Amino acid sequence: MTDPSRPWWADAVFYQVYPRSFQDSNGDGVGDLDGVSARLGYLKALGVDALWLNPVMVSPMADNGYDVADPRDIDPLFGDLAAMDRLTAAAHDLGMKVTMDLVPNHTSSAHPWFQAALAAGPGSTQRRRYIFRDGAGADGAEPPNNWLSIFGGPAWTRVTEADGRPGQWYLHLFDVEQPDLNWENPEVFDDLERTLRFWLDRGVDGFRIDVAHGMAKPRDLPDMPIVKPEMLLAEMDDDPRFNDDGVHEIHRRIRRVFDDYPDAVAIGEVWVYDNEQFARYVRPDELHLGFNFRLVRAGFDAADIRDAIENSMAAVELVGATPTWTLANHDVEREPTRYGGGPVGLARAKAMALVMLALPGAVFVYNGEELGLPNADLPDEALRDPVWERSGHTRRGRDGSRVPMPWQGDAPPFGFSDTADTWLPIPPEWSALTVEKQLADPSSTLTFFRRAIEFRCQRSEFDGPTVEMLDSPAGSVVFHASGGLVCVLNAGDGAIPLPEGEVLLASGDVVDGALPPDTAAWLV
Ligand code: NOJ
Repeated sequence: MTDPSRPWWADAVFYQVYPRSFQDSNGDGVGDLDGVSARLGYLKALGVDALWLNPVMVSPMADNGYDVADPRDIDPLFGDLAAMDRLTAAAHDLGMKVTMDLVPNHTSSAHPWFQAALAAGPGSTQRRRYIFRDGAGADGAEPPNNWLSIFGGPAWTRVTEADGRPGQWYLHLFDVEQPDLNWENPEVFDDLERTLRFWLDRGVDGFRIDVAHGMAKPRDLPDMPIVKPEMLLAEMDDDPRFNDDGVHEIHRRIRRVFDDYPDAVAIGEVWVYDNEQFARYVRPDELHLGFNFRLVRAGFDAADIRDAIENSMAAVELVGATPTWTLANHDVEREPTRYGGGPVGLARAKAMALVMLALPGAVFVYNGEELGLPNADLPDEALRDPVWERSGHTRRGRDGSRVPMPWQGDAPPFGFSDTADTWLPIPPEWSALTVEKQLADPSSTLTFFRRAIEFRCQRSEFDGPTVEMLDSPAGSVVFHASGGLVCVLNAGDGAIPLPEGEVLLASGDVVDGALPPDTAAWLV
């Protein structure tokens, strides 16, 4: 139950819409904003409070919109500003908030700033908006340092200067088409402020801030002590590419803009593991919320899960911030696959959903999670994630968790689009997982999610800011939320007795008061 004195986001269920894959309204095989508008009724019925839209700004789509060429306009692939305004207004009419993705660490190489930087040459003011350096070695043919791109290969690319000769290098922590901005240059913040105000003035309710632990770089750009390419970094300690101290002053400046829009929320993508380091991002004058990824990283293991919950809580308690919980997003494998695949993987994913939805704070559900979608096995030729190419075909990338939603019918594209030629193919076997089928089935994953979210929103047992871990049989996690809810997760091998109380909801069958393996239950 929502307490009117708390900000709306403090206990919100956010629903992450991957716009390419949610609903196509114009038959080009790619989802778009009018498609999202058309499905708002579904989201309302699911019970979510707010949407987070992955980037929809103008982009050549080298990294599905995380390469922004114009941050203050909508890419035609997704619609136009009017479509964005329609979506925001329609969501607001239904009582849902809309947050967008903001990409401040880098731009697209097609951004006019980067094009101007290439044309203007070394030493120019245009180059000072990005991180250009002369190369190492006698003829500058070596990259300025040993940093790697998160997507694979070096984080530096050498440009050809106007005279046709090989010239300086520019930094890109992600793809070659995503040059990192130079946050030491005041123009960079000024432009971000314009972007923030542009969308907030149009009625958007906040932003998820991409790579919020990036942006600032150490002045001398020291080598990485350990060179290991990783998709999403687990431990940031000793990695000079991220979590530089200077980033906090940037967040304080961003926050001052948000303070002019007191209802809006800034949610940082913070891949920082250490609790004290993480907490710094959510101090009262920085981000409102930071994604804590400990629960995503935890295996289906009682000790891991308990540790993730306790540490996520401990981190925000250091600074009086609100916890956040997430099990899935467009960058990681979907839970049923991650937890072992098949019926067991799905059972575990449902159990973990109950764990997540029992916790205090903001939760993030990724589109398709409520259907129990697994990762799709895509053929090589279908892969679109730059990770596949950049890694020399050694990492398949994230496409498997980005496949379009199956809405209805018995064959692809399952009502997602009018064309069967969808941007990623939808597995035919997802005919069993469509929204249509699941809505008609009281035992479906979707029905289960709807009930769980409804309880979370309506029952007072979910209120209260803290959780207490209780003693429990080996292989299980039992916690008591301060509102009165008890959540029991059985991640062990045998059934366990449930504690006293009425079972409000369980992710599987409770038989004679015993909770089977791979199952969770809520008790009041
Ligand atoms: C994190 C985003 O979630 C991911 O999808 C993207 O590739 C990188 N940041 C680069 O913007």
